[in-house]
Amino acid sequence: MSVPAWPCAYDMRRSGYDQSSHIVHLDDLSAQDVSVEDLKLKLLALFRSPTYRPPMLPAVALELLALSRKQRVTSAEVADLLGRDPMLAGQVLRVAKSAVYTRGEPVRSLDQAIVRLGLDKVTDLFFQAALEMKVFRAPGFESEMEALRQHSAFTAECARLVSRHTLGFEDYAFLCGLLHDVGIAACILSLNEIAGPTRKVSFENAWPSVRDIHASCSELLANIWQLPPDIALVLRLHHTLAHQGQVHPLAAAVAVADGLAQENGFGFREETQIVDTESAAAFAGIGRPALAQLRQAVALMAQNFGQPTTR
Ligand SMILES: [Fe+2]
Ligand SMILES: [Fe+2]
Repeated sequence: MSVPAWPCAYDMRRSGYDQSSHIVHLDDLSAQDVSVEDLKLKLLALFRSPTYRPPMLPAVALELLALSRKQRVTSAEVADLLGRDPMLAGQVLRVAKSAVYTRGEPVRSLDQAIVRLGLDKVTDLFFQAALEMKVFRAPGFESEMEALRQHSAFTAECARLVSRHTLGFEDYAFLCGLLHDVGIAACILSLNEIAGPTRKVSFENAWPSVRDIHASCSELLANIWQLPPDIALVLRLHHTLAHQGQVHPLAAAVAVADGLAQENGFGFREETQIVDTESAAAFAGIGRPALAQLRQAVALMAQNFGQPTTR
């Protein structure tokens, strides 16, 4: 598969970094100092390179997304598709049995999960399981990936709640919440490659560079995975919100979900928020009373999510 042209969301002039004053140590051995800007450029060059091997989602996950957008789909068709990847199907069942989804009778089988949760939710869970198995894993960065996995899962659930207060976009809210920071995973997965086999990379030192480019990297992965263009655009805009002078309401909704995750201890480091949660909510068409309701609902949900990972 060819890698699409690099999206131009990253604007060097707006980054505010002065190369001479922001030096990071890429490796703990300090064999070579790399500026924040240098590391960004190295990562971007790697992603643009024809030899770049992005993390791939299983074909079944993408087929399921396409199936879920069709008008008439039977649960047998879905079960057949899921059955082609038993490991992933098992993961879906594990999440479907978790406290977040089991209110009343627990889900016992995949068929039951499809009937009880519905195709859209099962598709969302399938994507979640696929990301956990195929993307959020990098030797040497286990704690960062676990924190990112948890942040993404929590933000996805928040986005679903947020979308109930917005007009439209319910279909993609969970997926956008789940994938919004997947560019961070892409950067983490590439750090070892950039540093070379003999160096140990410190994520702490790489974070300022990763933070600055991650939204564009999320968009890049969405394009490589051939997800709907709307999703890719929202991933790019999840911090800046505006495209051609107009705020994208779903990007604003994801920013609200991101903010609520942070408020409940499920944030990922200090992501740069251009606007605060209240302003993002206003852009998403969510008034103060609805935001107060959302805060209560998310706080309740947080109790079922277990302990946030220390990061
Ligand atoms: Fe982000
Ligand atoms: Fe985030």
